[in-house]
Amino acid sequence: MFFSKSVIAAAIVLFSVSMEVSAHAAITPVLGVNGKPTRNDVQRPTNEKPCGNTNIAQKLDSSSVITLKADKSFDATITNFNTGVDGSREIVSALVDVTGTGKKFTKATVKKNGTKNPTNVGPEELIIQLPSACQGGKSKNKCLVSLKTAGGFGNCVVVQNSPKKREDGAVGTRAARAARIALEDLD
Ligand SMILES: *[C@@H]1O[C@H](CO)[C@@H](O)[C@H](O)[C@H]1NC(C)=O
Repeated sequence: MFFSKSVIAAAIVLFSVSMEVSAHAAITPVLGVNGKPTRNDVQRPTNEKPCGNTNIAQKLDSSSVITLKADKSFDATITNFNTGVDGSREIVSALVDVTGTGKKFTKATVKKNGTKNPTNVGPEELIIQLPSACQGGKSKNKCLVSLKTAGGFGNCVVVQNSPKKREDGAVGTRAARAARIALEDLD
């Protein structure tokens, strides 16, 4: 017979893989993906693997980052590749690992969520807020954030502390020193 069992099995596997790639949404910049993500870059985050199959240790420091605002929130863009709940832009799970290792996730807050059951495909803005500052990566200022949609898709993104905060701190320290000196001069 022309079609062996293994050929049929392979065809079934291919078919189910192509089914899977028809229902995705990605949050940019996707961990480990440079530039615009495709459907195939989208992961299925789980409790065991909050970044899906992406190699965290290998990709954390080389990935594009989003910089946190002063209130530890950040804007991210979620883009769906198809409509309906499968292509949902609503985040049902937002987790952050401030160590960047992918082993210590805690809850982050979704301040602005996306559409659960979108009738179009395209981008939507999300706002996520972290409970504490980032400490991960070589620069010790990166966090890993895992975002999962109502459709079960999503990915991790890398965020970093606002550099402005450090500047403000330095300015504050200088100002405090100037004030101390001024007071000493008065004595
Ligand atoms: C996202 O928004 C929906 C609808 O407002 C809400 O039920 C859900 O809890 C939100 N997700 C998170 C992680 O807060």
